[in-house]
Amino acid sequence: MRKNIVAGNWKMNKTLSEGIALAKEINEMVSSKENNNVKIILGTPFIHLTEVKKVLSNARISISSQNCAAEAKGAFTGEVSAEMIKSTGIDYVIIGHSERRAYYHENNEILLKKVKQVLANNLTPIFCCGEVLEEREAGIHFEVVRKQLAETIFTLSNEEFSKIVIAYEPVWAIGTGKTATSAQAQEIHKYIRGLIVEKFGQSIANEISILYGGSCNPANARELFANPDVDGGLIGGASLKANDFIEIIYSF
Ligand code: PGA
Repeated sequence: MRKNIVAGNWKMNKTLSEGIALAKEINEMVSSKENNNVKIILGTPFIHLTEVKKVLSNARISISSQNCAAEAKGAFTGEVSAEMIKSTGIDYVIIGHSERRAYYHENNEILLKKVKQVLANNLTPIFCCGEVLEEREAGIHFEVVRKQLAETIFTLSNEEFSKIVIAYEPVWAIGTGKTATSAQAQEIHKYIRGLIVEKFGQSIANEISILYGGSCNPANARELFANPDVDGGLIGGASLKANDFIEIIYSF
């Protein structure tokens, strides 16, 4: 059975001490509640990874970085390699978030290199895909997502692909307060799972977690997660408040 996952993406928020405090609060709240079989991931800035890891005692909570370098090592000033991330003892790396694609010009070719770095270091990629508003309005969102996947993670071997977590995030819903409806989320998640069946077969498709992202919050999480092909969420704004994040985790 595939995992249900609620992953927070802190983006460029929280100083180190604020991040540690938030992680501690989440750790305590999760530990005081029953285990509802949801994998919890905190996507922190790079400099928080080691310190946040120290304060997490609950085995259900893992940590993710939000990016990594496309190259393995060397003269790439300011970059952080997948090997360095692995050496902090964390498990996940978010790759291809729409903010990386839009503001840092990360195209499919670069993203595939990043995914390969992540896999080569035995980390799990959380691979993001999703269309912008004009593409949704033009009715080409299925094709846009298909192409994003075809040119990146669909070129991996079955073995590599089976390690991926996918996050579908319609760009028009990110940070806008405008969520995809539950039906819109299910429609495209089902479409993505169908593409996985075609390319990698039913048994791999059954095991891949597909998360929804974009203004997911305590008020809409339950309805979104009730869909058969929505296996959790990638949460931005609402992951910065422990209470909201916990409510989303317990929306399954
Ligand atoms: P949001 O961000 O929840 O603030 O819309 C989601 C994301 O960008 O991953």
